[in-house]
Amino acid sequence: MKKRKTLYGLLAGVSILFILYALAKNFVFDPAAEGFLSHKTGLKRELNLPVWLNVMYVHVAFACIAMASGLLNFSKRFFEKSRKLHRINGYVYIVSVLLVVLTSGYMAPYATGGKISSIGFNLLNMVWPLITITALIQIKKKRMIRHRNWMIRSYAFCFTNLLIHLITSLFHQGFGLVYATSYTIGLYGSMVLLLVIPYILIRKIGPSREIANPPRMM
Ligand code: HEM
Repeated sequence: MKKRKTLYGLLAGVSILFILYALAKNFVFDPAAEGFLSHKTGLKRELNLPVWLNVMYVHVAFACIAMASGLLNFSKRFFEKSRKLHRINGYVYIVSVLLVVLTSGYMAPYATGGKISSIGFNLLNMVWPLITITALIQIKKKRMIRHRNWMIRSYAFCFTNLLIHLITSLFHQGFGLVYATSYTIGLYGSMVLLLVIPYILIRKIGPSREIANPPRMM
């Protein structure tokens, strides 16, 4: 019980800090994404900057909504207060995920690192909604633990951008690789971590007694 509370506290801290960072960076400090776009060299297709930027704003806004709504739905207190709100918030999360991948679909062909990065993003565009819909199907079948586990797998994808930038910085600033190559490594490295971290987490927390034997509903 204490382990889970600590884990939730940690998750909440990281998620809230990252949401604030993403909002501040992309809407206040660098709204033209100059820093990020300066690394885009040798693009195969011409980038329509105003459209790309607007798509990116929608992308970041819904990514932050997905992070916040997902975090809220992992709260036991919130779940116990109102299952109805948990359900509504769950649909907010799903719609946000779909909008993040839709906008990602527009940006993927222009991805930093070229075709190989575009392929990676398009893989993510398919895998993330699939995992999220699986979580929904599980709860429709009243399988609580499986629903929770698939939601943990889905929520991990909210950290895609954070992981990409952490790994990119390590390879670019740490090992001196060119930015575009570091970014591609960051993308594929984060894809591996996004599958491995939830796997370890799910094994560590195991089934909860309360949700393994939920109280009978009228
Ligand atoms: C949920 C948390 C996420 C946040 C906060 C986020 C944020 C951002 C931001 C700020 C950018 C602009 C470039 C940068 O500064 O990195 C971006 C680009 C992009 N994101 Fe996301 N993103 C998230 C998740 C995802 C996911 C899960 C996918 C794929 C399914 C994705 C696909 C893309 C693509 C394709 C680009 C363009 C990359 C490029 O031009 O090189 N993002 N994202």
